[in-house]
Amino acid sequence: MSTLLRVPCAYQGGKQRVAVEIADILLDAAPGPGARFYDLCCGSGAVSIELVNRGVDPSHITMLDLSSWGKFWSAIGSGTFNMDTFDQLLSELPEDKRAIRAHMSALSTLPVQDREAELYPVLQASSFGGKQIWHDGGRWANAFFRNYWEPTATSVRRSPANPMQPSPVELRRRVETLVNGMRGVTCLNADIMTVLNTPFPDDAVVYVDPPYQETTGYAFGFDVKTFARRFRELSSAPLFVSEGTPLTRNAVLLTFGGAKGGISGMRKGKHQEWLSQF
Ligand SMILES: C[S@@+](CC[C@H](N)C(=O)[O-])C[C@H]1O[C@@H](n2cnc3c(N)ncnc32)[C@H](O)[C@@H]1O
Repeated sequence: MSTLLRVPCAYQGGKQRVAVEIADILLDAAPGPGARFYDLCCGSGAVSIELVNRGVDPSHITMLDLSSWGKFWSAIGSGTFNMDTFDQLLSELPEDKRAIRAHMSALSTLPVQDREAELYPVLQASSFGGKQIWHDGGRWANAFFRNYWEPTATSVRRSPANPMQPSPVELRRRVETLVNGMRGVTCLNADIMTVLNTPFPDDAVVYVDPPYQETTGYAFGFDVKTFARRFRELSSAPLFVSEGTPLTRNAVLLTFGGAKGGISGMRKGKHQEWLSQF
């Protein structure tokens, strides 16, 4: 079994398919072996995870997300993620996959208490289309869940679609490896603009993955060009921003898995991933 770290689950806008290429570029931009990496709008953590898989010490990574991912990664980084609570939530899942959706819907109406970090990955792994689910302080919002689906005699797809992706067993395996492998990261559960209040270290490499323009369905947003302009007034550190279009003349079209596997990413008219350097 691979010991490489993996994102807990699929997530709208998640960068796992282009994380290798993004990490190549961030590592190239690093001024030395002790560089400090910033993964702002980290979501499911695809880029930070890739950096750790490539040998970066978690203590050299600062993540940030205003959503429940921020709570999840804060708990993972500080070693306060409660595996017993997580196991309890997983043990309460119905065995019948047809009952999962109703279970998740019911779970999402209960008070979060102090277990947002542990509950969130369970809900997000069951989210319809990987769309962002968020907690608005009182309740979960945008909480729509996948149903178990089985092929009929005439359906094109021949295999069933599971309501949780990955399965509860695989989710637990991934989270357990993250508890061990990502311990030591700093994660701020805050608005991205707050990082402009303090100077960045000289050896910083900064990556920002905002909700893409024209993309709907996220709880929060911000103006990335304003962020980049104010960042530049504050710091000369390399700054890279993901978008579906180039934002600067210094932008690279990512190829979904590198040059060899990049055919689908290059198709005209298809969704594109650009990394722009400011
Ligand atoms: C495209 S997703 C990031 C995906 C991530 N790189 C991954 O691999 O999963 C954008 C993220 O930005 C976060 N976000 C949006 N507005 C924000 C803000 N003002 N401050 C902090 N985070 C914000 C959202 O919660 C969301 O997780």
